[in-house]
Amino acid sequence: MYEPRATSHAGVVVNELMSFQLIATSPILDWFVMIVHQDFDWWLSAASRAFLPKPLSFFSSRLLPVTTTSVAAYLSWVIFQAILYHFVPGRLHQAPRMPGGRRLIYKLNGLNAWLLTVILGAWVSYAGLARVAPDDKGHFWYDLFNDGELHPRTGQLFDWKHFNASRTGGIIAWTLIDLSFAALQHQQFGSVTNSVVLAVGFRAVIVAEYFLYEDLYVGACVVTIQHFSRNPCHYSKGLPIRFFETLDGAHERFSFYSIFGFAVMMPHLWTLQTQYLATHPVEVSPVAVALLVAGFASGWTLNHIANNQKNMSRRSGGKFRIAGREAETIEAKYRTADGKVHRTVLLCSGLWGIVRHPNYVGSITHTWASCLTCGGGHLLPYAKAILVTVMCVHRCFRDEARCKIKYADAWDDYCRRVRWRLLPGVF
Ligand SMILES: NC(=O)c1ccc[n+]([C@@H]2O[C@H](COP(=O)([O-])OP(=O)(O)OC[C@H]3O[C@@H](n4cnc5c(N)ncnc54)[C@H](OP(=O)(O)O)[C@@H]3O)[C@@H](O)[C@H]2O)c1
Repeated sequence: MYEPRATSHAGVVVNELMSFQLIATSPILDWFVMIVHQDFDWWLSAASRAFLPKPLSFFSSRLLPVTTTSVAAYLSWVIFQAILYHFVPGRLHQAPRMPGGRRLIYKLNGLNAWLLTVILGAWVSYAGLARVAPDDKGHFWYDLFNDGELHPRTGQLFDWKHFNASRTGGIIAWTLIDLSFAALQHQQFGSVTNSVVLAVGFRAVIVAEYFLYEDLYVGACVVTIQHFSRNPCHYSKGLPIRFFETLDGAHERFSFYSIFGFAVMMPHLWTLQTQYLATHPVEVSPVAVALLVAGFASGWTLNHIANNQKNMSRRSGGKFRIAGREAETIEAKYRTADGKVHRTVLLCSGLWGIVRHPNYVGSITHTWASCLTCGGGHLLPYAKAILVTVMCVHRCFRDEARCKIKYADAWDDYCRRVRWRLLPGVF
Protein backbone atom coordinates (compact mmCIF):
# COMPACT_ATOMS: atom_id res chain seq x y z
CA MET A 1 0.00 0.00 0.00
CA TYR A 2 1.77 3.16 -1.15
CA GLU A 3 1.94 5.94 1.41
CA PRO A 4 4.71 8.25 2.61
CA ARG A 5 6.78 6.37 5.21
CA ALA A 6 6.44 7.53 8.82
CA THR A 7 9.60 8.95 10.40
CA SER A 8 8.46 10.06 13.89
CA HIS A 9 8.60 7.50 16.71
CA ALA A 10 4.83 7.67 17.27
CA GLY A 11 4.21 7.23 13.52
CA VAL A 12 6.45 4.15 13.37
CA VAL A 13 4.68 2.57 16.37
CA VAL A 14 1.23 3.25 14.88
CA ASN A 15 2.32 1.80 11.50
CA GLU A 16 3.77 -1.29 13.19
CA LEU A 17 0.57 -1.92 15.15
CA MET A 18 -1.70 -1.31 12.16
CA SER A 19 0.42 -3.50 9.87
CA PHE A 20 0.56 -6.37 12.39
CA GLN A 21 -3.19 -6.12 12.90
CA LEU A 22 -3.88 -6.15 9.13
CA ILE A 23 -1.54 -9.08 8.45
CA ALA A 24 -3.03 -11.07 11.34
CA THR A 25 -6.70 -10.34 10.70
CA SER A 26 -7.08 -10.14 6.90
CA PRO A 27 -6.86 -13.93 6.36
CA ILE A 28 -9.29 -14.45 9.28
CA LEU A 29 -11.70 -11.86 7.88
CA ASP A 30 -11.60 -13.52 4.48
CA TRP A 31 -12.19 -16.93 6.11
CA PHE A 32 -15.07 -15.46 8.15
CA VAL A 33 -16.76 -14.21 4.96
CA MET A 34 -16.40 -17.66 3.41
CA ILE A 35 -17.99 -19.28 6.49
CA VAL A 36 -20.87 -16.73 6.39
CA HIS A 37 -21.89 -17.65 2.88
CA GLN A 38 -21.11 -21.36 3.08
CA ASP A 39 -22.47 -22.22 6.53
CA PHE A 40 -24.89 -19.41 7.37
CA ASP A 41 -26.62 -18.91 4.04
CA TRP A 42 -25.16 -15.36 3.71
CA TRP A 43 -26.63 -14.18 7.05
CA LEU A 44 -24.00 -11.97 8.72
CA SER A 45 -26.19 -11.65 11.82
CA ALA A 46 -26.50 -15.42 12.31
CA ALA A 47 -22.76 -15.95 11.79
CA SER A 48 -21.95 -13.16 14.26
CA ARG A 49 -24.24 -14.73 16.87
CA ALA A 50 -22.38 -18.05 16.49
CA PHE A 51 -18.96 -16.35 16.45
CA LEU A 52 -19.25 -14.07 19.49
CA PRO A 53 -19.73 -16.63 22.30
CA LYS A 54 -17.08 -19.08 21.00
CA PRO A 55 -14.76 -17.33 18.54
CA LEU A 56 -12.05 -20.00 18.65
CA SER A 57 -14.26 -23.02 18.10
CA PHE A 58 -16.17 -21.04 15.44
CA PHE A 59 -13.04 -21.30 13.31
CA SER A 60 -11.40 -24.47 14.65
CA SER A 61 -14.52 -26.53 13.98
CA ARG A 62 -14.42 -25.35 10.37
CA LEU A 63 -10.76 -25.84 9.56
CA LEU A 64 -10.51 -26.56 5.85
CA PRO A 65 -8.73 -29.81 5.08
CA VAL A 66 -5.48 -29.28 3.18
CA THR A 67 -5.57 -32.23 0.80
CA THR A 68 -3.08 -33.32 -1.81
CA THR A 69 -5.73 -32.58 -4.44
CA SER A 70 -6.39 -29.03 -3.22
CA VAL A 71 -2.67 -28.19 -3.00
CA ALA A 72 -1.99 -29.80 -6.40
CA ALA A 73 -4.97 -27.99 -7.97
CA TYR A 74 -3.87 -24.56 -6.73
CA LEU A 75 -0.21 -25.16 -7.64
CA SER A 76 -1.25 -26.37 -11.11
CA TRP A 77 -3.29 -23.18 -11.57
CA VAL A 78 -0.37 -20.91 -10.60
CA ILE A 79 2.17 -22.90 -12.65
CA PHE A 80 -0.18 -22.95 -15.65
CA GLN A 81 -0.56 -19.17 -15.41
CA ALA A 82 3.23 -18.76 -15.02
CA ILE A 83 3.75 -20.80 -18.20
CA LEU A 84 1.23 -18.64 -20.09
CA TYR A 85 2.78 -15.46 -18.64
CA HIS A 86 6.25 -16.54 -19.81
CA PHE A 87 5.58 -18.25 -23.14
CA VAL A 88 2.47 -16.78 -24.78
CA PRO A 89 3.54 -14.14 -27.32
CA GLY A 90 2.65 -10.52 -26.73
CA ARG A 91 3.83 -7.04 -27.60
CA LEU A 92 6.44 -5.40 -25.39
CA HIS A 93 5.58 -2.30 -23.45
CA GLN A 94 7.69 0.29 -21.67
CA ALA A 95 6.27 1.25 -18.26
CA PRO A 96 6.49 4.74 -16.68
CA ARG A 97 9.67 6.00 -15.09
CA MET A 98 10.38 4.47 -11.69
CA PRO A 99 11.50 6.67 -8.78
CA GLY A 100 15.07 5.56 -9.61
CA GLY A 101 14.74 6.95 -13.16
CA ARG A 102 14.67 3.67 -15.19
CA ARG A 103 11.75 2.37 -17.28
CA LEU A 104 10.98 -1.37 -17.21
CA ILE A 105 9.73 -3.43 -20.15
CA TYR A 106 6.76 -5.80 -19.85
CA LYS A 107 5.37 -8.41 -22.23
CA LEU A 108 1.63 -7.85 -22.64
CA ASN A 109 0.00 -11.18 -23.41
CA GLY A 110 -2.89 -10.95 -20.92
CA LEU A 111 -5.69 -10.92 -23.50
CA ASN A 112 -4.36 -14.09 -25.17
CA ALA A 113 -3.76 -15.74 -21.78
CA TRP A 114 -7.29 -14.83 -20.62
CA LEU A 115 -8.89 -16.28 -23.76
CA LEU A 116 -6.74 -19.44 -23.51
CA THR A 117 -7.66 -19.81 -19.81
CA VAL A 118 -11.40 -19.47 -20.42
CA ILE A 119 -11.37 -21.77 -23.48
CA LEU A 120 -9.29 -24.41 -21.69
CA GLY A 121 -11.50 -24.10 -18.56
CA ALA A 122 -14.63 -24.61 -20.69
CA TRP A 123 -13.04 -27.61 -22.43
CA VAL A 124 -11.94 -29.18 -19.12
CA SER A 125 -15.49 -28.77 -17.82
CA TYR A 126 -17.11 -30.00 -21.08
CA ALA A 127 -14.80 -33.02 -21.22
CA GLY A 128 -15.87 -33.91 -17.68
CA LEU A 129 -12.35 -33.48 -16.28
CA ALA A 130 -13.68 -31.04 -13.67
CA ARG A 131 -17.16 -30.68 -12.27
CA VAL A 132 -18.82 -27.50 -11.05
CA ALA A 133 -19.18 -27.84 -7.29
CA PRO A 134 -19.36 -25.34 -4.44
CA ASP A 135 -16.19 -26.08 -3.38
CA ASP A 136 14.33 -1.89 8.55
CA LYS A 137 14.63 -0.98 11.96
CA GLY A 138 11.58 -0.79 14.02
CA HIS A 139 9.52 -1.48 10.88
CA PHE A 140 9.22 -5.25 10.96
CA TRP A 141 5.43 -5.65 10.60
CA TYR A 142 5.08 -2.53 8.52
CA ASP A 143 7.69 -3.77 6.04
CA LEU A 144 6.07 -7.20 5.86
CA PHE A 145 2.72 -5.55 5.18
CA ASN A 146 3.83 -2.72 2.96
CA ASP A 147 7.45 -2.90 1.87
CA GLY A 148 9.44 -5.24 -0.34
CA GLU A 149 10.72 -4.99 -3.89
CA LEU A 150 8.99 -2.50 -6.16
CA HIS A 151 9.40 -4.61 -9.31
CA PRO A 152 10.79 -8.07 -8.38
CA ARG A 153 11.86 -9.94 -11.53
CA THR A 154 13.24 -13.27 -12.64
CA GLY A 155 15.05 -12.93 -15.95
CA GLN A 156 14.24 -10.04 -18.24
CA LEU A 157 10.47 -10.22 -18.41
CA PHE A 158 9.00 -12.34 -15.57
CA ASP A 159 7.71 -9.63 -13.25
CA TRP A 160 6.33 -11.15 -10.00
CA LYS A 161 4.12 -8.23 -9.05
CA HIS A 162 2.52 -7.96 -12.48
CA PHE A 163 2.11 -11.75 -12.59
CA ASN A 164 0.47 -11.90 -9.17
CA ALA A 165 -1.79 -8.92 -9.83
CA SER A 166 -3.19 -10.12 -13.13
CA ARG A 167 -2.71 -13.90 -13.25
CA THR A 168 -2.81 -15.78 -9.93
CA GLY A 169 -6.12 -14.81 -8.39
CA GLY A 170 -7.79 -11.62 -9.55
CA ILE A 171 -8.62 -10.48 -13.08
CA ILE A 172 -7.74 -13.50 -15.24
CA ALA A 173 -9.54 -15.93 -12.88
CA TRP A 174 -12.69 -13.81 -12.50
CA THR A 175 -14.40 -15.02 -15.68
CA LEU A 176 -13.78 -18.69 -14.86
CA ILE A 177 -15.10 -18.19 -11.32
CA ASP A 178 -18.17 -16.28 -12.57
CA LEU A 179 -18.94 -18.85 -15.28
CA SER A 180 -18.54 -21.69 -12.77
CA PHE A 181 -21.12 -20.15 -10.45
CA ALA A 182 -23.48 -19.40 -13.34
CA ALA A 183 -23.11 -23.09 -14.28
CA LEU A 184 -23.82 -24.06 -10.66
CA GLN A 185 -27.02 -22.00 -10.75
CA HIS A 186 -28.02 -23.82 -13.94
CA GLN A 187 -27.13 -27.19 -12.38
CA GLN A 188 -29.28 -26.50 -9.32
CA PHE A 189 -32.26 -24.67 -10.82
CA GLY A 190 -32.27 -25.80 -14.45
CA SER A 191 -31.83 -22.28 -15.85
CA VAL A 192 -29.83 -19.11 -15.36
CA THR A 193 -31.40 -15.84 -14.23
CA ASN A 194 -30.96 -12.54 -16.04
CA SER A 195 -29.15 -11.11 -12.98
CA VAL A 196 -26.35 -13.69 -13.15
CA VAL A 197 -25.99 -13.05 -16.89
CA LEU A 198 -25.62 -9.34 -16.12
CA ALA A 199 -23.11 -9.98 -13.30
CA VAL A 200 -20.97 -12.27 -15.49
CA GLY A 201 -21.24 -9.88 -18.46
CA PHE A 202 -20.38 -6.74 -16.47
CA ARG A 203 -17.21 -8.32 -15.09
CA ALA A 204 -16.20 -9.75 -18.48
CA VAL A 205 -16.33 -6.17 -19.83
CA ILE A 206 -13.97 -5.04 -17.04
CA VAL A 207 -11.56 -7.95 -17.67
CA ALA A 208 -11.56 -7.51 -21.45
CA GLU A 209 -11.00 -3.76 -21.02
CA TYR A 210 -8.14 -4.41 -18.60
CA PHE A 211 -6.25 -6.69 -20.96
CA LEU A 212 -7.17 -4.77 -24.12
CA TYR A 213 -5.89 -1.49 -22.69
CA GLU A 214 -3.16 -2.87 -20.47
CA ASP A 215 -1.22 -0.37 -22.46
CA LEU A 216 -2.66 1.89 -25.13
CA TYR A 217 -0.87 3.54 -27.90
CA VAL A 218 -3.27 5.13 -30.28
CA GLY A 219 -1.25 6.48 -33.18
CA ALA A 220 2.12 5.81 -31.59
CA CYS A 221 4.75 4.07 -33.65
CA VAL A 222 5.83 0.50 -33.09
CA VAL A 223 9.55 -0.23 -32.93
CA THR A 224 11.62 -3.36 -32.65
CA ILE A 225 13.96 -3.60 -29.70
CA GLN A 226 17.42 -4.61 -30.85
CA HIS A 227 18.32 -6.76 -27.89
CA PHE A 228 15.28 -8.93 -28.52
CA SER A 229 16.41 -9.52 -32.09
CA ARG A 230 16.56 -13.31 -31.72
CA ASN A 231 12.82 -13.29 -31.14
CA PRO A 232 11.70 -9.91 -32.45
CA CYS A 233 8.65 -8.45 -30.80
CA HIS A 234 7.25 -4.97 -30.56
CA TYR A 235 6.66 -2.48 -27.86
CA SER A 236 4.53 0.61 -27.86
CA LYS A 237 6.15 3.98 -27.64
CA GLY A 238 3.02 5.67 -26.39
CA LEU A 239 2.51 6.30 -22.71
CA PRO A 240 0.87 3.52 -20.73
CA ILE A 241 -2.69 3.64 -19.54
CA ARG A 242 -3.47 0.86 -17.14
CA PHE A 243 -1.67 -1.27 -14.59
CA PHE A 244 1.77 0.26 -15.08
CA GLU A 245 0.80 3.76 -14.12
CA THR A 246 -1.74 2.92 -11.45
CA LEU A 247 -0.85 3.08 -7.78
CA ASP A 248 -0.77 -0.74 -7.73
CA GLY A 249 1.51 -1.05 -10.74
CA ALA A 250 3.84 1.89 -10.24
CA HIS A 251 4.06 2.45 -6.51
CA GLU A 252 2.82 -0.48 -4.40
CA ARG A 253 5.59 -2.83 -3.33
CA PHE A 254 5.45 -6.63 -3.56
CA SER A 255 4.35 -7.18 0.06
CA PHE A 256 1.49 -8.74 2.02
CA TYR A 257 -0.90 -5.96 0.95
CA SER A 258 -0.36 -6.56 -2.75
CA ILE A 259 0.12 -10.35 -2.66
CA PHE A 260 -2.82 -11.16 -0.36
CA GLY A 261 -5.08 -8.57 -1.98
CA PHE A 262 -4.67 -9.89 -5.52
CA ALA A 263 -4.19 -13.60 -4.80
CA VAL A 264 -6.88 -14.08 -2.13
CA MET A 265 -9.28 -11.15 -1.68
CA MET A 266 -9.80 -10.44 -5.40
CA PRO A 267 -10.89 -13.95 -6.46
CA HIS A 268 -12.98 -14.44 -3.32
CA LEU A 269 -14.55 -11.14 -2.26
CA TRP A 270 -14.73 -9.51 -5.70
CA THR A 271 -16.80 -12.40 -7.09
CA LEU A 272 -19.29 -12.69 -4.22
CA GLN A 273 -22.12 -11.55 -6.52
CA THR A 274 -22.04 -14.63 -8.76
CA GLN A 275 -21.29 -16.89 -5.77
CA TYR A 276 -24.43 -15.54 -4.11
CA LEU A 277 -26.61 -15.69 -7.21
CA ALA A 278 -25.64 -19.33 -7.80
CA THR A 279 -27.60 -20.39 -4.74
CA HIS A 280 -30.00 -17.41 -4.39
CA PRO A 281 -31.32 -16.77 -7.89
CA VAL A 282 -32.64 -13.28 -8.50
CA GLU A 283 -34.75 -12.48 -11.58
CA VAL A 284 -34.94 -8.72 -12.18
CA SER A 285 -37.64 -6.84 -14.12
CA PRO A 286 -36.91 -5.44 -17.61
CA VAL A 287 -36.91 -1.91 -16.15
CA ALA A 288 -34.36 -2.98 -13.52
CA VAL A 289 -32.24 -4.62 -16.25
CA ALA A 290 -32.28 -1.34 -18.21
CA LEU A 291 -31.35 0.66 -15.07
CA LEU A 292 -28.53 -1.75 -14.14
CA VAL A 293 -27.10 -1.69 -17.67
CA ALA A 294 -27.39 2.12 -17.75
CA GLY A 295 -25.69 2.40 -14.31
CA PHE A 296 -22.88 0.06 -15.26
CA ALA A 297 -22.40 1.64 -18.71
CA SER A 298 -22.31 5.18 -17.34
CA GLY A 299 -19.79 4.26 -14.60
CA TRP A 300 -17.62 2.32 -17.00
CA THR A 301 -17.73 5.10 -19.64
CA LEU A 302 -16.87 7.76 -17.06
CA ASN A 303 -13.91 5.71 -15.82
CA HIS A 304 -12.75 5.01 -19.36
CA ILE A 305 -13.05 8.62 -20.59
CA ALA A 306 -11.36 9.96 -17.44
CA ASN A 307 -8.42 7.56 -17.82
CA ASN A 308 -8.15 8.41 -21.52
CA GLN A 309 -8.18 12.17 -20.90
CA LYS A 310 -5.42 11.81 -18.30
CA ASN A 311 -3.35 9.61 -20.60
CA MET A 312 -3.87 11.89 -23.60
CA SER A 313 -2.59 14.77 -21.49
CA ARG A 314 0.57 12.83 -20.67
CA ARG A 315 1.07 11.48 -24.17
CA SER A 316 0.68 14.86 -25.87
CA GLY A 317 2.37 16.93 -23.17
CA GLY A 318 -0.97 18.71 -22.69
CA LYS A 319 -1.39 19.63 -26.38
CA PHE A 320 -4.76 18.10 -27.23
CA ARG A 321 -8.42 19.06 -27.27
CA ILE A 322 -11.25 18.03 -24.99
CA ALA A 323 -14.76 18.53 -26.41
CA GLY A 324 -13.39 20.93 -29.03
CA ARG A 325 -11.41 23.13 -26.60
CA GLU A 326 -7.68 23.21 -25.89
CA ALA A 327 -6.94 21.16 -22.78
CA GLU A 328 -5.71 23.15 -19.77
CA THR A 329 -2.73 21.84 -17.85
CA ILE A 330 -0.29 22.87 -15.14
CA GLU A 331 3.42 22.29 -15.78
CA ALA A 332 4.99 20.13 -13.07
CA LYS A 333 8.56 18.98 -12.39
CA TYR A 334 9.86 16.06 -10.35
CA ARG A 335 13.25 14.58 -9.56
CA THR A 336 14.08 10.84 -9.72
CA ALA A 337 16.63 9.13 -7.48
CA ASP A 338 19.31 9.37 -10.20
CA GLY A 339 19.18 13.15 -9.70
CA LYS A 340 17.54 13.93 -13.05
CA VAL A 341 14.69 16.43 -13.25
CA HIS A 342 11.72 15.48 -15.45
CA ARG A 343 8.82 17.57 -16.69
CA THR A 344 5.20 16.52 -16.98
CA VAL A 345 1.72 18.07 -16.89
CA LEU A 346 -1.27 17.92 -14.57
CA LEU A 347 -4.53 18.05 -16.49
CA CYS A 348 -6.99 20.54 -15.03
CA SER A 349 -9.81 20.68 -17.60
CA GLY A 350 -12.32 18.14 -18.91
CA LEU A 351 -13.33 15.65 -16.22
CA TRP A 352 -10.07 16.38 -14.34
CA GLY A 353 -11.16 20.01 -14.03
CA ILE A 354 -14.38 19.04 -12.24
CA VAL A 355 -12.97 16.69 -9.59
CA ARG A 356 -9.47 15.40 -8.84
CA HIS A 357 -10.39 11.69 -9.20
CA PRO A 358 -13.14 11.36 -11.85
CA ASN A 359 -12.01 7.80 -12.71
CA TYR A 360 -12.76 6.71 -9.11
CA VAL A 361 -16.33 8.06 -9.45
CA GLY A 362 -16.73 5.83 -12.52
CA SER A 363 -15.29 2.79 -10.72
CA ILE A 364 -17.56 3.27 -7.71
CA THR A 365 -20.64 3.68 -9.96
CA HIS A 366 -20.08 0.59 -12.11
CA THR A 367 -19.16 -1.52 -9.07
CA TRP A 368 -22.43 -0.62 -7.30
CA ALA A 369 -24.35 -1.43 -10.51
CA SER A 370 -22.78 -4.89 -10.69
CA CYS A 371 -23.53 -5.60 -6.99
CA LEU A 372 -27.13 -4.39 -7.36
CA THR A 373 -27.75 -7.45 -9.59
CA CYS A 374 -28.00 -9.35 -6.26
CA GLY A 375 -31.18 -7.60 -5.15
CA GLY A 376 -31.92 -6.70 -1.53
CA GLY A 377 -31.76 -10.03 0.31
CA HIS A 378 -28.30 -9.85 1.89
CA LEU A 379 -25.51 -7.40 2.64
CA LEU A 380 -22.52 -9.64 1.92
CA PRO A 381 -22.80 -9.63 -1.92
CA TYR A 382 -22.32 -5.86 -1.62
CA ALA A 383 -18.88 -6.33 0.00
CA LYS A 384 -17.11 -5.36 -3.22
CA ALA A 385 -19.10 -2.15 -3.67
CA ILE A 386 -18.53 -1.14 -0.04
CA LEU A 387 -14.81 -2.00 -0.19
CA VAL A 388 -14.26 -0.22 -3.53
CA THR A 389 -16.01 2.91 -2.19
CA VAL A 390 -13.90 2.90 1.00
CA MET A 391 -10.72 2.09 -0.95
CA CYS A 392 -11.30 4.86 -3.48
CA VAL A 393 -11.91 7.45 -0.74
CA HIS A 394 -8.76 6.22 1.07
CA ARG A 395 -6.84 6.27 -2.23
CA CYS A 396 -7.76 9.93 -2.76
CA PHE A 397 -5.73 10.76 0.36
CA ARG A 398 -2.88 8.31 -0.32
CA ASP A 399 -2.49 9.39 -3.94
CA GLU A 400 -2.65 13.07 -3.10
CA ALA A 401 -0.03 12.71 -0.35
CA ARG A 402 2.29 11.11 -2.94
CA CYS A 403 1.56 13.75 -5.60
CA LYS A 404 2.19 16.52 -3.07
CA ILE A 405 5.65 15.08 -2.34
CA LYS A 406 6.38 14.52 -6.03
CA TYR A 407 5.12 17.81 -7.48
CA ALA A 408 5.16 20.18 -4.43
CA ASP A 409 3.85 23.66 -5.49
CA ALA A 410 2.43 22.45 -8.82
CA TRP A 411 0.21 20.01 -6.92
CA ASP A 412 -0.96 22.81 -4.58
CA ASP A 413 -1.81 24.88 -7.68
CA TYR A 414 -3.81 21.98 -9.08
CA CYS A 415 -5.72 21.52 -5.80
CA ARG A 416 -6.52 25.24 -5.74
CA ARG A 417 -7.89 25.06 -9.30
CA VAL A 418 -9.77 21.80 -8.80
CA ARG A 419 -11.21 21.99 -5.33
CA TRP A 420 -13.22 18.79 -5.06
CA ARG A 421 -11.97 15.22 -4.83
CA LEU A 422 -14.96 13.09 -5.86
CA LEU A 423 -18.25 14.98 -5.68
CA PRO A 424 -18.42 18.71 -6.46
CA GLY A 425 -19.83 20.58 -3.47
CA VAL A 426 -19.69 17.53 -1.19
CA PHE A 427 -16.21 15.92 -1.02
N1 LIG B 1 -12.50 -1.64 -8.89
C1 LIG B 1 -11.51 -1.54 -8.04
O1 LIG B 1 -11.21 -2.42 -7.32
C2 LIG B 1 -10.74 -0.25 -8.03
C3 LIG B 1 -10.25 0.30 -6.84
C4 LIG B 1 -9.49 1.46 -6.91
C5 LIG B 1 -9.21 2.03 -8.15
N2 LIG B 1 -9.73 1.47 -9.28
C6 LIG B 1 -9.48 2.02 -10.61
O2 LIG B 1 -8.16 1.64 -10.98
C7 LIG B 1 -7.60 2.66 -11.83
C8 LIG B 1 -6.25 3.09 -11.28
O3 LIG B 1 -6.42 3.79 -10.06
P1 LIG B 1 -5.24 4.52 -9.29
O4 LIG B 1 -5.59 4.49 -7.85
O5 LIG B 1 -3.92 4.01 -9.72
O6 LIG B 1 -5.38 6.06 -9.76
P2 LIG B 1 -5.14 6.84 -11.14
O7 LIG B 1 -6.04 8.05 -11.08
O8 LIG B 1 -5.23 5.97 -12.33
O9 LIG B 1 -3.62 7.30 -11.05
C9 LIG B 1 -3.22 8.28 -10.11
C10 LIG B 1 -2.00 8.96 -10.68
O10 LIG B 1 -2.34 9.75 -11.83
C11 LIG B 1 -1.51 10.91 -11.89
N3 LIG B 1 -2.37 12.09 -11.82
C12 LIG B 1 -3.15 12.49 -10.78
N4 LIG B 1 -3.83 13.59 -11.11
C13 LIG B 1 -3.49 13.91 -12.39
C14 LIG B 1 -3.87 14.96 -13.30
N5 LIG B 1 -4.73 15.92 -12.95
N6 LIG B 1 -3.32 14.95 -14.53
C15 LIG B 1 -2.44 13.99 -14.91
N7 LIG B 1 -2.04 12.99 -14.09
C16 LIG B 1 -2.57 12.94 -12.84
C17 LIG B 1 -0.57 10.78 -10.69
O11 LIG B 1 0.54 9.97 -11.09
P3 LIG B 1 1.92 10.55 -11.73
O12 LIG B 1 2.98 10.15 -10.77
O13 LIG B 1 2.02 9.84 -13.05
O14 LIG B 1 1.76 12.02 -11.89
C18 LIG B 1 -1.38 9.95 -9.73
O15 LIG B 1 -0.56 9.29 -8.77
C19 LIG B 1 -8.64 3.78 -11.89
O16 LIG B 1 -9.38 3.64 -13.08
C20 LIG B 1 -9.52 3.52 -10.69
O17 LIG B 1 -10.81 4.05 -10.87
C21 LIG B 1 -10.47 0.34 -9.24
